[in-house]
Amino acid sequence: MSLKTTMKNLIPNSVWMQLQRAKAKHKLAGYSGTQDARFLKFSANPWNKPNQEELRGQIIYYIHRIEKGLTHQSDFRPGFGRNALQSLHNLLNQWRKAHYPTTDTTYKAALSVVMAYIEKHKQEHEPLPTFLSTLFPVEELERTQTGNTLAGVKTVTAKEKESNKDKSFKELFEGRTSIRQFAKEPVDPNTVAQAIELAMKTPSVCNRQSYRVTLVSNPDLIARILTVQGGWRGYAYPPMLAIITSDERSFIYMEEHNEPFVDGGIFTMSFLLSLEYENLAACPLNLMCSDSNAAAIRKLASIPDYEVLIACVSIGHFQDQTLVPKSFRYPGSSITRVIR
Ligand SMILES: Cc1cc2nc3c(=O)[nH]c(=O)nc-3n(C[C@H](O)[C@H](O)[C@H](O)COP(=O)(O)O)c2cc1C
Repeated sequence: MSLKTTMKNLIPNSVWMQLQRAKAKHKLAGYSGTQDARFLKFSANPWNKPNQEELRGQIIYYIHRIEKGLTHQSDFRPGFGRNALQSLHNLLNQWRKAHYPTTDTTYKAALSVVMAYIEKHKQEHEPLPTFLSTLFPVEELERTQTGNTLAGVKTVTAKEKESNKDKSFKELFEGRTSIRQFAKEPVDPNTVAQAIELAMKTPSVCNRQSYRVTLVSNPDLIARILTVQGGWRGYAYPPMLAIITSDERSFIYMEEHNEPFVDGGIFTMSFLLSLEYENLAACPLNLMCSDSNAAAIRKLASIPDYEVLIACVSIGHFQDQTLVPKSFRYPGSSITRVIR
């Protein structure tokens, strides 16, 4: 008999369980420590020396913020985005100072979003805010960047979505876009139920299917949850909100501690595609909140403590026409590494 088995037989079961728990806790602390250290060492934070990838991530963040501001039509705010444009200006300066190529897609997309900003003001017959010319050479951009349409907004129509169920997978996937402005009509819970049914085809570790969906259609509750979530500013609230969670009770080994997020994330993508197939407009929304905000969302949506928060998905019907961020993509080859 092994020493472990002998000890197990000698020690009362409740004590043995506490020892096992302490061992698991120690292991988890080690794993989390390694993860935290990697994040602290490499994330795009001021204590780390800036490099091209960090700058790239931050530039895209600001491009996206400006693109979102450009999606507003009747509620467009001329001269918006001073802080985002100032940050973009600073980041582009750092980029040039580090001699990174100005032919790079990220750099070009940044100039493109500034062009889109200028164009939008022209379309709306609004003067450009004076701060813009202190940050960017407006005339030079107008001369050199008019053909640069990487960033900005595009139009999505309800008409193009009518045939979603007949589209090939490629067409459906390529056509999906995050929608943040919805038609007034309510969402039929049965249609969402069909989307969930289809999304159940999501693969999961050992087929455990730990993901859960909480559907909220009470407008007051949606407003309160999205106020805490914080990533839905400037848009009317959606008619329905799904909260995706993963049930920790599906998992056993300490090495699985991140798996709820992986399975929940894959499910979220399937759900988005399934909603698109059902001709419903949607936008994934992060749930990377502070502990106190997470607790508030849990309370508002009655999420049990044994589930981890993955993401929200706002759901509604397509408006006849909606402006959405272009959200350009890099080519697959730029993120692929082949080891031979
Ligand atoms: C996990 C996750 C969290 C997101 N959180 C937000 C959010 O809080 N607010 C928002 O407006 N968009 C959010 N988005 C949407 C992204 O901005 C969008 O997916 C990205 O720009 C790509 O555009 P696309 O979805 O139209 O292809 C999120 C997307 C993901 C996948």
